[in-house]
Amino acid sequence: MPSQVFFRRIRDRVLCRECGFCEEVVVCPSPGDCIGCGACCRGCPHGAVRMVEDKSPRGSVSIRVDGVKVEVPERTTVKRALETLGISFGKYPGDCQIFAPCETGGCYSCSVLIDGELTRSCVTRVEDGMDVWTEVPEKATPLRIIHGPEPHPVGGKATPWWLKSRGRYIEVAIWAAGCNLSCPQCQNYSVTYDGRSTPMTPREAAELVSAARRFYGVDRMAISGGEPTLNRRWLIEYFRELRRLNPESHARLHLDSNGTILTPEYIDSLVLEAGVTDIGIEPKGVCLETFMKITAVGNRDLAERYLETSWNAVKYVVDNHGESVFLGVGLPYNRMFMTLEEVARFGERLASIDPEVQLCVLDYFPAFRRREMERPSPREMLEVKEILEGRGLRTVVVQTSVGHLGP
Ligand code: FES
Repeated sequence: MPSQVFFRRIRDRVLCRECGFCEEVVVCPSPGDCIGCGACCRGCPHGAVRMVEDKSPRGSVSIRVDGVKVEVPERTTVKRALETLGISFGKYPGDCQIFAPCETGGCYSCSVLIDGELTRSCVTRVEDGMDVWTEVPEKATPLRIIHGPEPHPVGGKATPWWLKSRGRYIEVAIWAAGCNLSCPQCQNYSVTYDGRSTPMTPREAAELVSAARRFYGVDRMAISGGEPTLNRRWLIEYFRELRRLNPESHARLHLDSNGTILTPEYIDSLVLEAGVTDIGIEPKGVCLETFMKITAVGNRDLAERYLETSWNAVKYVVDNHGESVFLGVGLPYNRMFMTLEEVARFGERLASIDPEVQLCVLDYFPAFRRREMERPSPREMLEVKEILEGRGLRTVVVQTSVGHLGP
């Protein structure tokens, strides 16, 4: 029986810093009359918003879903209204009818057709008379909120170490809004939680990135996030278009991902159909508890699945695309969420897959909701590097406050 529980937001006046983030970056589909989408709760950098059950009386509205006229509760999102009809939404693709990984409006994965327009079901208020189609036709152009492009002098996890720190731009990058994780120390939260910017089609983004590549005279084009893999159709079409505009063999197409939904079949599509040449994957630890602490994914089964998909993706790329793809692995480090013992275990696990693979350890700095944590010192990062090399890894780079060190 689908749940009939609804929520509304409560703002904690003590915790609220009036930073304006919830008004300028996070999208609100119904200002002044909360419909419980939860985007402001997920995106508040100070944890000042929480959701509570809304027991106030609620009428209904009449809409059409897949051609059938139905009554659904009013004052809620399209997603929630569809859930009351038994339509399933989930955080792992394939497990549900509609994939809704971010619920903050950035990824557009949860889109349905409303009155003929591609519309995000998670941050759209259900209105009387709407005509909703849950299957999005192939001909509907996918959308995604994108930041950039910007030139980058260092690159990401899958930028080969010998290109980093040359003192000039080495790639152009864009960042995709929306993430399936809720890391309290999110290092790029103004992109991750952006649900307000105008979305782009894959072609628009590819044209901008290609123009930026020519302007800055670089051969590498990267996408990071947020989490770029969430909207699979958008990402595959984006890379295809980028490859069409940049057919030269030295043009490198670089994806940086947390790897949590990068299945073998998805990786094959990216590499074989869309021409991706460089993949960065960041399994956030070895222990499930650490993964849950870093990502704030509270559902144990889901967290386990994400973590294992990420590690399996590393192995799959090494075993199946090692010849054609440059793989870089990322490891977030801060003693607040990871012990040196786990760093060593991470090194052992990665070395057992391939001791030569490039590992970039990121010195996580205070951000978002973990502003009290301290950025690791360069000395501490060198200690981490030594531990990882002691476990057999031969290409360890550490990001520090004074630049990238290693290998
Ligand atoms: S789940 Fe709705 S936009 Fe990402």
